[in-house]
Amino acid sequence: MSKYYLTTPIYYVNAAPHIGHTYTTIAADAIKRLKRMQGFEPVILATGTDEHGQKIERAAAAANKSPQKFTDLISQEFRRQWETLGLQTDRFQRTTDPKHAKVVQGLFDRCVKSGYVYKGSYTGQYCVFDELYVNEAKPGDPCPDCGRPTETITEENFYFKLSAFQERLLKHYEDQPDFIRPETRRNEVLAFVKQGLQDVSISRTTIKWGVPVANEAPHVFYVWFDALATYISAVEGEGLWPADLHLIGKEILRFHAVYWPAFLWAADLPLPRRIFAHGWLLFENDKMSKSKGNMVRATPIKDALGADALRYFLLREVVFGHDGNFSYDALVQRYNSDLANGLGNLATRTLAMIHQNYSGTIPNGPGDPAIAQAAKVAVDSALDSFEWLNFSKALETIWGLISAVDKFIVERAPWNLAKSGDTARLADTLYTAAEALRIVTALVYPVIPESAAKIWAQLGFRTPLEAIRTTDLDWGKLAAGQEIEPASGVFPRADVKTMIEKMKEGEAAELVRQQTLMGVKPATPASVAADGTAHISIDDFVKVDLRVGEVKSASAVKGADKLLHLQVDIGEPQPRSIVAGIALAYKPEALVGRKVVIVANLAPRKLRGLESQGMIVAASLEGGNPVLASFLEDVPIGARLK
Ligand code: MSP
Repeated sequence: MSKYYLTTPIYYVNAAPHIGHTYTTIAADAIKRLKRMQGFEPVILATGTDEHGQKIERAAAAANKSPQKFTDLISQEFRRQWETLGLQTDRFQRTTDPKHAKVVQGLFDRCVKSGYVYKGSYTGQYCVFDELYVNEAKPGDPCPDCGRPTETITEENFYFKLSAFQERLLKHYEDQPDFIRPETRRNEVLAFVKQGLQDVSISRTTIKWGVPVANEAPHVFYVWFDALATYISAVEGEGLWPADLHLIGKEILRFHAVYWPAFLWAADLPLPRRIFAHGWLLFENDKMSKSKGNMVRATPIKDALGADALRYFLLREVVFGHDGNFSYDALVQRYNSDLANGLGNLATRTLAMIHQNYSGTIPNGPGDPAIAQAAKVAVDSALDSFEWLNFSKALETIWGLISAVDKFIVERAPWNLAKSGDTARLADTLYTAAEALRIVTALVYPVIPESAAKIWAQLGFRTPLEAIRTTDLDWGKLAAGQEIEPASGVFPRADVKTMIEKMKEGEAAELVRQQTLMGVKPATPASVAADGTAHISIDDFVKVDLRVGEVKSASAVKGADKLLHLQVDIGEPQPRSIVAGIALAYKPEALVGRKVVIVANLAPRKLRGLESQGMIVAASLEGGNPVLASFLEDVPIGARLK
């Protein structure tokens, strides 16, 4: 059987691993197990860390460490995280590994040789966080992707002729419709490439922390040219390239689906077979970010409820490919309903009844034909969903089978059959339950491997579950006479409140541990000012994006005598539409041309049918009219208040 080589992104080491990174790596681990079950051999999963670039250099400086020391530490933290969670990553490639540098240089040399690289110069805005030129931005503009301020830089670079690949890329997307999955993401890439492609710079001279371009000091490779090559260096010399699957988050699809194929073509190397971009994991419906302080880490969840509970939740709750929500409450609810009550209950009751009635020996089949048929349909359908990485649908199908078996047991009422002495029917009932349990256990193995292996052992199997293949999922393969083990609950029921508290306590401790590791001073606990109001930390304050803006136009709002509708220029391509309750204090025409302060990162909302994209800052006087905040000196539009 053929090989299967899949990858996760290589993660930046400017942050310690959190549940977002874990999400991708868990999904990759599940796919790896599934591919092995389908008979691919060998199945190799590569992951690693992306360690170059300014962002990392700055994070190291902030931690008072050399980039090498800092990256060693955080890379190790990622590696340990995957081990702790029991993820079967086969290769862990660091971009600071000398072996990798050779591969990057080799890729570059091949692109030079084929004539796709030239030297040019660039002056413009750069987003350090995304390591991306923002061609359309003016000085002072924020990055359109992450909203952070861009920086102006001028440098001589090596350029890659990406523009030469537009037609070839479009043809490839057309010829290989499954190259980019899911379909919505494919359409986004198509639309982007159809607009036309600009050449991209693939080296930097302003950064020291990178793979040097041979004989071209001070050029180092652009982090993305460096990072993408990891997929090759991770398996260099093993005959595993091309990758069968790159699993990534949706925000880095363009690099993978546009740049990467072009680099590979230029170097005359084969393309990966598929790129699957999944959605974002949100925390309580909000984007997770360090600055919001709403990041979740995986190990406290594993410690409290087990790695499988997290794996199951992430792959069942979120439709893979869409954005999805994480919450502790939903996690524990799902654990209780699907794992403790669903699969756990089916396993314990089935095994207990076999112990009770047959002294722990599997009775004779062949089992109920209707359940056998339901199992066949469920296996086919779940495997098909798994194949398209539709984990939630596959799991829903498997749990449908669990419910069908539960219902069957209740209807057959084996406890009555035992009493009435209907031994043939009793044996057939318990064989049906045990055989269905065997099939379910094998099918859920890719998603909850640790728990599935426990149930497998309790069913009396000596061969490891890892050795199971999809061809073993046919009905009737459970041998009568097999001795089972004592039944013990694999998913003890969790008390929701206690469990959530436990996980939150663990999370707080893990946060401090990671912050210490990153060289960040852990936030001091909230303190209280003399007047009883809570102090906030500087981190809280910087969350508020206060900007200087100029009023471009102002008008009354129909039917609302206190409101004015303003257009305020804060240095963005379009002025902000802002609805402000200042009409009693200011005439619209007196405001035009006036500098004001606005809160720029307030969630937009509708007032009287008008969108308000921010808030104007004013002194609020008791019983009096608002007074707009203003400056004595002239200040440029877009300036940030700190
Ligand atoms: N270093 C680059 C990738 C280079 S690949 C050649 C990078 N690193 S990253 O550390 O920012 O990791 C991004 C990836 O982590 C996402 O593409 C996704 O796989 C995963 N995720 C990080 N946060 C996530 C969520 N909140 N939700 C889902 N996935 C997330 O980009």
